[in-house]
Amino acid sequence: MRIAVLASGRGSNFQSLIDASERGELPNANLVLLVVNKKNAKAIERAEKHNIDWIFIDHRGKDRVVFDKEMMDKLTEYKVEGIILAGFMRILSTDFVIQYKNRILNIHPSLLPLFPGAHAHRDALAANATKSGCTVHFVDDGVDTGPIILQKEVIINPDDTEETLSNRILIQEHIAFPEALPLFSSNRLKVINNKVEILPP
Ligand code: GRF
Repeated sequence: MRIAVLASGRGSNFQSLIDASERGELPNANLVLLVVNKKNAKAIERAEKHNIDWIFIDHRGKDRVVFDKEMMDKLTEYKVEGIILAGFMRILSTDFVIQYKNRILNIHPSLLPLFPGAHAHRDALAANATKSGCTVHFVDDGVDTGPIILQKEVIINPDDTEETLSNRILIQEHIAFPEALPLFSSNRLKVINNKVEILPP
């Protein structure tokens, strides 16, 4: 399956997929393209280092629908069949989500449906939660609401800060995405009534 990764920044989750791929753990997934909407995204260096094509599409001053159409045209050109959102800080238009229904995977640093949105760690700490974690899910047209593929838990310590908690959750994120992608790329994920069923190999 031809996969595009969309990222806006650091790209450590992108790197975890590159590493898994190079270890031979993504036999059915081919990382063919990185799309960034920030020119200084560190993800670009990672793509270059591993010979993955990348493109920059500027979102500034553009209507969301126009920006998404530009992305869709590129994804079509690359014959992309699956999309990974790895720290892509843009909400996708309904058109985009419909075009790739149940073909877009996102990772979010909380145990959804708890703490959706841009401040998951801060919100988990403010709620005095005793655990958090990360969630890989399909993207629908809500924010962090799509069908859940898998989750990894992390215990919250009383002295955790946003930084310490996010660092520990990130370790789990780097395990979760490489675990979810092969399930998807080998067509083992079935969405029924908004729930994901994992089919046996
Ligand atoms: C991660 O915490 C991810 O859960 C969230 O954005 C962050 C991206 O980090 N969606 P990176 O760019 O992959 O390092």
